[in-house]
Amino acid sequence: MSIIETNNLTKKFNGLVAVNNVNFEVEEGEIFGFLGPNGAGKTTTIKMLITLLRPTSGTARVAGFDIVKERNRVRECIGVVFQEPALDTELTGRENLDFHARMYGLSRVEREKRIVDVLQLVDLTDKADVLVKNYSGGMKRRLEIARGLMHYPKVLFLDEPTLGLDAQTRNAIWRYIKRLNKEEGTTIFLTTHYMEEADYLSDRAAIIDHGRLLVVDKPEGLKNRVGKDLINLKCSNMGNLKKILEKEEWVENVKIVDSSLLLSVKHGEEKIPHIIEIAQSTGIKITSIDLHKPTLDDVFLYYTGRRIREQETERTIAARFRRH
Ligand SMILES: Nc1ncnc2c1ncn2[C@@H]1O[C@H](COP(=O)(O)OP(=O)(O)OP(=O)(O)O)[C@@H](O)[C@H]1O
Ligand SMILES: [Mg+2]
Repeated sequence: MSIIETNNLTKKFNGLVAVNNVNFEVEEGEIFGFLGPNGAGKTTTIKMLITLLRPTSGTARVAGFDIVKERNRVRECIGVVFQEPALDTELTGRENLDFHARMYGLSRVEREKRIVDVLQLVDLTDKADVLVKNYSGGMKRRLEIARGLMHYPKVLFLDEPTLGLDAQTRNAIWRYIKRLNKEEGTTIFLTTHYMEEADYLSDRAAIIDHGRLLVVDKPEGLKNRVGKDLINLKCSNMGNLKKILEKEEWVENVKIVDSSLLLSVKHGEEKIPHIIEIAQSTGIKITSIDLHKPTLDDVFLYYTGRRIREQETERTIAARFRRH
């Protein structure tokens, strides 16, 4: 059964189409990744699904309820962790959780029991009574996830759950996300611009750019679309080599990207010597060559002609400073 379903979901801000006729379905129990660069429309999509923003046109249902006509029913079924941290740092972890659960009307007995469970799920039991202002960035993120789970939501929305966190903390958060999906059966909708994150966590991932949903599939399926092996090379006279290689039947695709030639082939390791020979015989000098298996970044490149990675570096660093 689909637990999220959108139908031409669209949001315009004045002249800007932030989310453009987006259609997708999320199955109950899956981890669904929404991958896209800065400004792609990820947060805007989440805000519509969690009923904070009204679509300009189109519809969506979450847990069977219409996001406009049945806002309160939707809200009862969902947990949310926002992109910007939102904890009361003058309270302890336990107090933050308790406050949230009161707003959802859980009884004292229910709250106490649930707090024990969710703290355990994110390994914060021994920090429960520490003030949040003394938590690390990763601990705050884990507490926010725990808080999103307090009222037993069917769907948990995570907007960039590991933005600005270091690699080790990010790995820990990934483990908790997988764990709560498995142990509680919670459906998870997460946005990210980290392709490794989308790749590792998602049962299925959607790629979004400039408000448009480009493709949805399992990460393996997405990568298979790009080809088996990718060869990236730099050389003199790139346009010429491209023309020559395009004619070879074993070359599935060849593009110039970021002043490199990117080839999609099978059995790449056998093709490298062959490419070098071709280049030498036509007087083209290869200065570097590498072979790799496709990543979701390559998938993004394949669909948009741009990379996610380079666009994001500066912003990620800025976000890290903001968080601490
Ligand atoms: N309230 C608003 N008013 C006007 N424009 C907005 C508003 N919210 C978002 N936008 C614009 O809509 C587009 C999509 O923004 P959104 O925040 O959804 O992107 P995102 O994919 O979440 O990006 P990021 O990775 O930076 O979080 C951007 O061009 C943004 O500037
Ligand atoms: Mg965002």
